[in-house]
Amino acid sequence: MVMLEDAGLQPRLFAGTVPDPTTDSLGAGLTVLREHAADSLIGFGGGSPVDTAKALGLLGVQGGRMRGYKAPHMNLGPALPVIAVPTTAGSGSEATQFTIITDSATDEKMLCSGPAFLPVAAVVDFELTLSMPSRLTAGTGVDALTQAVEAYVSRKANPLSDGLALNAIRTIGHYLRRVYAYGGDSEAREAMMLAVTQAGIAFSNASVALVHGMSRPIGAHFHVAHGLSNAMLFPAVTAFSVPAAESRYADCARALGVAADGDGDALAAGRFVEALRDLCEDLEVPTPRAHGIDKDEWFRLSPLMAEQALASGSPAKTPLCPPWTRSRTSTRRSTAEGRRVRNGDGHNSQIRARIRDETHD
Ligand SMILES: [Fe+2]
Repeated sequence: MVMLEDAGLQPRLFAGTVPDPTTDSLGAGLTVLREHAADSLIGFGGGSPVDTAKALGLLGVQGGRMRGYKAPHMNLGPALPVIAVPTTAGSGSEATQFTIITDSATDEKMLCSGPAFLPVAAVVDFELTLSMPSRLTAGTGVDALTQAVEAYVSRKANPLSDGLALNAIRTIGHYLRRVYAYGGDSEAREAMMLAVTQAGIAFSNASVALVHGMSRPIGAHFHVAHGLSNAMLFPAVTAFSVPAAESRYADCARALGVAADGDGDALAAGRFVEALRDLCEDLEVPTPRAHGIDKDEWFRLSPLMAEQALASGSPAKTPLCPPWTRSRTSTRRSTAEGRRVRNGDGHNSQIRARIRDETHD
């Protein structure tokens, strides 16, 4: 604040952001924004404050309710410019055209997307992440890895996102365990910070997929931190998706350093799934049951969580679209894609129950 004032600006602090921002939490911020007649915002903190700034930037100009801006609505603006200053290494929100806001009335984590949510600038300084506790380091690090992998296997993957995603996977594979073990490791923190931003640019241009689609409702209904709910799903969802994109997952395995260039795709992709299980174990990722989530409540909410996952549009980007969601996902698939999905039906029906059970237990 002092630095901004010294520069001749008239900043005002809004410190009322909450983890996993809700529509209710935006109200106070919007009041401050309007009272101050702010012409721009600085989102300072983890993914939640940055996402809050993005949402306020849009609401401050266009008004209305956040629900009206959720996917598939494409938000082109106008919106107030946002400068992002991340203090965690994980969400990549500083580099994405997305914000996630939970509807306080329905507990739906709404994905809101479009260039209106892309910060005009980001200050990416790893020194701001040195004090992150190990649990947060693990969760945000796995979130970044999930984002990079989902960008790479997404149906919207492209040459730009591919290079950034593989680079991020390579770096996270090398440094995540190290930074989890010793948070004061500056070299590892700096590498992770860069990888996270690369992953953010990658998935902003290629989307995330089924893990994120399913993860958001779990986070909203059971109050599980975003990175952790991703991690709970990541190995099982990847095992499910591999048959439809074996060579892409094999590339991820080679980038992660768990398969050699000479390994065949099937072998490499299998090793990737095992590596994700090992990583989650090493980072002490609990299962939903171990995290205290009641199994009956989990299954009672499953239909609603599935509806909310599909509404976000993310599952439709996954290499293998679950058959029980196909009728509701956007279509216009190519013939080849359709054939790929049909060929996956047998695999799907066998693994559906496994995913359901593995992800809870
Ligand atoms: Fe994420």
